[in-house]
Amino acid sequence: MKIGIDKIGFATSQFVLKLQDLAVARNIDPEKLSKGLLLKELSIAPLTEDIVTLGATASQSILTEADKQDIEMVILATESGIDQSKAGAVFIHGLLGIQPFARSFEIKEACYGATAALDYARLHVASHPNAKVLVIASDIAKYGIETSGEPTQGAGALAMLVTSNPRILSFNGDAVAQTRDIMDFWRPNYSTTPFVNGVYSTKQYLDTLKTTWAEYQKRFNRSLEEFSAVCFHLPYPKLALKGLQKLLTKELSEEKRSQLTYNFEQSIRYSQKVGNIYTGSLYLGLLSLLENQPQLVAGEKIALFSYGSGAVAEFFSMTLVEGFEKHLRTDRLQELDTRTPVRVAEYEDLFFAEAILDETGSAIFSNYDNQTYALTEIREHERVYHAVEDQA
Ligand code: HMG
Repeated sequence: MKIGIDKIGFATSQFVLKLQDLAVARNIDPEKLSKGLLLKELSIAPLTEDIVTLGATASQSILTEADKQDIEMVILATESGIDQSKAGAVFIHGLLGIQPFARSFEIKEACYGATAALDYARLHVASHPNAKVLVIASDIAKYGIETSGEPTQGAGALAMLVTSNPRILSFNGDAVAQTRDIMDFWRPNYSTTPFVNGVYSTKQYLDTLKTTWAEYQKRFNRSLEEFSAVCFHLPYPKLALKGLQKLLTKELSEEKRSQLTYNFEQSIRYSQKVGNIYTGSLYLGLLSLLENQPQLVAGEKIALFSYGSGAVAEFFSMTLVEGFEKHLRTDRLQELDTRTPVRVAEYEDLFFAEAILDETGSAIFSNYDNQTYALTEIREHERVYHAVEDQA
């Protein structure tokens, strides 16, 4: 039985900051961001958008009422959770109106979480072939003003429906994971922004790629010649390009090298305009490839490299299934251009705003008309979410 991704949805926040403007404000050469990091824009989320609203919006864009009756699990991968106890998946389950006898929970290992979630979903479907599992990767990446990571921030969510007989991609059962107990990037409970050993983190990313790929080749006896594309976790696209270059050894044919390079360029198009969305970043790369490379055909294999700081890495592959192109969109780049641009001062106000609670632990928010779902208030420490049309 084939198991894999039947539908993929994406949502990002409503505001956008041009990195050209950020470079001017921070007095750095714009080419450092556009060529040094390969980034153009980053999505900015206001207080009324969080991992719950983004995750619910991405999910709502793909789910039918019938799907909502068939979903047996909602797994939310995130590292920007809004509560230490209650899973964001429970809020999303409620907002979407998924049937009650479902299991909903959150999963965490930095940017790697969604890969573990997909594998858990696969295992569930393997033993319950009629089940559907909703896997959501939702994050808001904040590094802080004037940090080296600032241009790599972002906000967004991917929603993937895992089923048997999937209509987009099937898993090939060939995953190799690696765990290393390192401190390259972490966020203690008392801090709203992460601590980052930036250069060390890039070395770890590239070294876990090299060693996980070597172990994958050893276990499965596969060459890159078998793949049409490699998608990478994209903290910023330039690092993934360095990763690709490490894999493009001289044993590969010239034709394969140019195919993998061209397809890599298609896989970074969305991230270049959204920034790092942590758990969803690899899957945003996958979506970007599928929606911007019309020459892909059913049967082709795509390799994926997942990396989460701390660190866990995984190399695995998926195969495109017949008719996959019918379940994708071709207007997403234009849609990204409808986000509202903000100037640097507005970005600083919006992105780093914190809810000011009164003595009862309450705050009421406004200005969420452009959202599908919104955090509308905090009432005595309870987060209150609504579908925006419910508010009229
Ligand atoms: P930086 O200050 O941008 O570093 O910080 P840089 O000075 O090395 O410059 C970057 C590149 O721009 C270099 O290219 C420069 O040469 C180039 P490279 O040598 O690497 O090819 N450059 C220019 N290019 C054109 N014109 C110019 C110019 N000037 C310089 N004028 C750093 C980079 C990664 C440290 C920073 O962005 C950072 O701290 N980021 C956050 C951490 C991160 O993203 N790490 C990646 C691996 S860890 C990971 O992927 C996990 C993560 O997603 C979190 C999770 O798992 O939860 C982060």
